[in-house]
Amino acid sequence: MTSLLNKPAAASPGHGAAFTPHLYSLKYSPDLGWHDGDLLPMDNLSLHPATLGLHYGQVIFEGMKAFRQQDGSVAVFRPWENARRFNRSAARLAMPSLPEQLYVDGVDRLVAADHAELSDHPDHSLYLRPLMFGTDANLMLRPSEEYLFLVMAFVAGGFFGDVVRPVSVLVSRDQARAMPGGTGDVKCAANYGPSFVAQRKAQEAGCQQVVWLDQAERRWVEEMGGMNLFFVRGSGAGAEVFTTPLTGTLLPGVTRDSLLRMAARLGYRVAERPVSVDQWRAGCEAGEITEVFACGTAAVVTPVGRVRDVDGDFTVGDGEMGPVTGALRRALVDLQHGRVPDVDGWLH
Ligand code: COI
Repeated sequence: MTSLLNKPAAASPGHGAAFTPHLYSLKYSPDLGWHDGDLLPMDNLSLHPATLGLHYGQVIFEGMKAFRQQDGSVAVFRPWENARRFNRSAARLAMPSLPEQLYVDGVDRLVAADHAELSDHPDHSLYLRPLMFGTDANLMLRPSEEYLFLVMAFVAGGFFGDVVRPVSVLVSRDQARAMPGGTGDVKCAANYGPSFVAQRKAQEAGCQQVVWLDQAERRWVEEMGGMNLFFVRGSGAGAEVFTTPLTGTLLPGVTRDSLLRMAARLGYRVAERPVSVDQWRAGCEAGEITEVFACGTAAVVTPVGRVRDVDGDFTVGDGEMGPVTGALRRALVDLQHGRVPDVDGWLH
């Protein structure tokens, strides 16, 4: 994309509030299909109180980031992957599919208009949030006929603060994020609101995040908050990097997929394998599981240092960010900022 005059870096944009001046908007109706794509000033929407999506949860979204490159341009990381996942989410919620090209065009229009909001601060990015919801003013219990697709953006610092520090997690024993046959493998709003009570409990227990177990047996580790989890077994060149498999109740993270490929390329053994919370504890106590980290667009790569569960706490490694986590985080961030060759063509 085009290069630009950079703005001075803002002190700390945090995560979620430093919105850019524009909003991309595209409408859908059965007669016209997708139409009226437009770049608007970022402003309040006017919605009928009976807007179907607000009542029945026909709401899906995505999360992506754009990064300042070495030449001053801005590139979006793997937007086509998110476009594909967006359509899987749409299909699951009986919403119309959005041609991938229209999805990426909307993202491009917004980034082209607002990229100057992003400084060249190495830890800042432009977080892009595509959203689609049913807009019929009708409370009959059926899918909406009309929809609105929006793309908004905010300047993002770190999701867990400006310095990368290990997080502590509470294993949720009484609530589950997803169930077989449910919506855990797509990105709908309804997966997030119900997680806030468990997240609050984690904070009350002195932890930053919640770890979800499977709903059927309540022992297999699934995700952390809204992020995927990775485990490191062993150390040095022979270390194995593994993550929990996509059983249908986990979100197939784009960062998860990227890290699986990058870990293999860095020479680690890589696997997708279930791990129970008992195996996690025993592995850490025996020194076999040496590192654990969470990953996602927002979280990037964030080490997990301590785990709190009904049987007491345990520490992962020495509780600090381990070398494999550090190497993978660096490899990902370097790639996203164009500091190493983009061999897979992931930068758009
Ligand atoms: C992301 O990582 O971008 C997510 O969507 C998870 C959460 C912050 C909503």
